[in-house]
Amino acid sequence: MQKITIKKILNKKNKTPIICLAAYSKAIAQIADKYCDIILVGDSLGMVLYGMKTTREVKIETMILHGKTVKNSTKRSLVVFDMPYRTYTNKFTAFKNARKVIKLTKCDAVKVEGGKEITSIIKYLTMKGIPVMGHVGLLPQTTSNFKVKGKNFIQKRKILEDAIAISNSGAFAIIIECVVEDLAKEITQNVSVPTIGIGASRYCDGQILVSDDMLGLSDLFPKFVKQYANLKKVIEKSTRNYARDVKMRRFPSLKNVYK
Ligand code: KIV
Repeated sequence: MQKITIKKILNKKNKTPIICLAAYSKAIAQIADKYCDIILVGDSLGMVLYGMKTTREVKIETMILHGKTVKNSTKRSLVVFDMPYRTYTNKFTAFKNARKVIKLTKCDAVKVEGGKEITSIIKYLTMKGIPVMGHVGLLPQTTSNFKVKGKNFIQKRKILEDAIAISNSGAFAIIIECVVEDLAKEITQNVSVPTIGIGASRYCDGQILVSDDMLGLSDLFPKFVKQYANLKKVIEKSTRNYARDVKMRRFPSLKNVYK
């Protein structure tokens, strides 16, 4: 089993689709590791696991716990740590926090959201030896609405320029979230690093989904999510059966007791 490196990810541009999932727990990370090039420990865990209203409430300590869990549960995939809101307000804060994160979790890279305004941060982190993944389009940490981006010319041009700027600053890949298809295509054709789409079309170099969304564990299902299972239904049925068995004294049975 060969470890996925940044170089291997870069080499996939325009060749092989890059497979990514956001995952936060041991069980899912272990499975994702068999199939994914990149596993993102996303700050979406604030909303998905902890029921927060936005990712802005996520603390770095919480992310570090999940980062350690995911990294310790994987051998092959590149594990990317999502830097939470306000942990990279300038290049020095960004470096202090990213260095701590990498030291404690041993994750392979960090992800930051934003465009031209964070290029000095991306340059500084990469110069200091910390690989950085960018994120443009819908930016959950700062957006005022969760609507598709790039519908008008001005927004489209800004997102394209942001993507080019962060690619030129040293990011090794760029997440493009929730933008119109032709913008994702234009970005992918105009940056030298791989683009990873979430709600951004097949024209990206790779795709990412939040594992809980694609497994049917979340409450929200935006159009861009393809649901591959309905685990909520499976858990509901299993819990109902367990409750019934306890009530009727069918559990524990002889098989479940020590003699
Ligand atoms: O936090 C996250 O899971 C993400 C993905 C949606 C790309 O940033």
